[in-house]
Amino acid sequence: MSRSPAPVAVVTGAAGNLGPVWTGGLLDAGYRVAALTLEGTEQDPVLVELGSTYGDNLDVVTADVTSREDLDAAATHVLGRWGSPDVLVNNAGVDVPPRPGEGTLLQDVSADTFRRVLEVNVLGAFQAMQVFGAAMAAAGGGSIVNIGSLYASVSPDPRMYDHVPMEPPFLKPPAYGASKAGLVNLTRYFATHLASQGVRVNTLSPGGVAGGQDPEFVRKFSARVPLGRLARPDELVQPLLFLASDASSYVTGIELKVDGGFTAW
Ligand SMILES: NC(=O)c1ccc[n+]([C@@H]2O[C@H](COP(=O)([O-])OP(=O)(O)OC[C@H]3O[C@@H](n4cnc5c(N)ncnc54)[C@H](O)[C@@H]3O)[C@@H](O)[C@H]2O)c1
Repeated sequence: MSRSPAPVAVVTGAAGNLGPVWTGGLLDAGYRVAALTLEGTEQDPVLVELGSTYGDNLDVVTADVTSREDLDAAATHVLGRWGSPDVLVNNAGVDVPPRPGEGTLLQDVSADTFRRVLEVNVLGAFQAMQVFGAAMAAAGGGSIVNIGSLYASVSPDPRMYDHVPMEPPFLKPPAYGASKAGLVNLTRYFATHLASQGVRVNTLSPGGVAGGQDPEFVRKFSARVPLGRLARPDELVQPLLFLASDASSYVTGIELKVDGGFTAW
């Protein structure tokens, strides 16, 4: 009896904090994963470790999501090797953590900085959905999961950062929340336009995820979360697998908030 081949997932921006979490979660769940990484990040230590555990089921492919050419080439590679993907995780994103000495006044945020965040977080996801969504539609189905953020729904509270010794004070990029809110609605657009071709499109919006933030930030942030803490990265995996798989076969166009209740009060 022949077994059907393992499903295929594509993860963009697969290095860094959360890329390897999605990639590892999908590999653990039996997917073959094409991990699209920005040039220079291919040797992410967690991805390298996943490669030694999962061998040929992980394929690391270089692609900048702001480049349509890169995405087309990545799709040609993935389709040639494994066929049309079952899942696309649009994880690539730009945010800026506090860096001592690099504060900015709101009126001085440059148009280039603003544009760059939108370019990666919205245009990048748009192009990846165009390319892989079309392949999914041609193949009769698939699931796209766009990684949003709690800041799609609420503005960052500057008091979370006022202990960081910076003058001018740290400013979370104003374009970040705007980009994630845009992504939530772009999700609805693709969900409605690809539904008839069997492609579901949803947003997964994490809250704050534990990842080496300074203790004072963790204390302030946790006090603001109904569940009283940041998320462990592994707590994001089952929500992803839910949206990725047929467990959510009647779910499209939604934003699944995995934020410990941050946006509930
Ligand atoms: N970590 C959190 O607490 C958190 C919370 C909410 C949402 N998010 C979202 O999760 C996603 C991952 O965040 P993270 O914390 O892992 O950030 P990160 O900075 O560690 O990783 C971002 C990844 O995107 C890649 N990337 C950047 N520009 C790219 C481009 N042009 N093309 C391709 N890849 C590109 C980077 O190389 C990196 O691999 C982002 O979309 C972020 O907005 C993170």
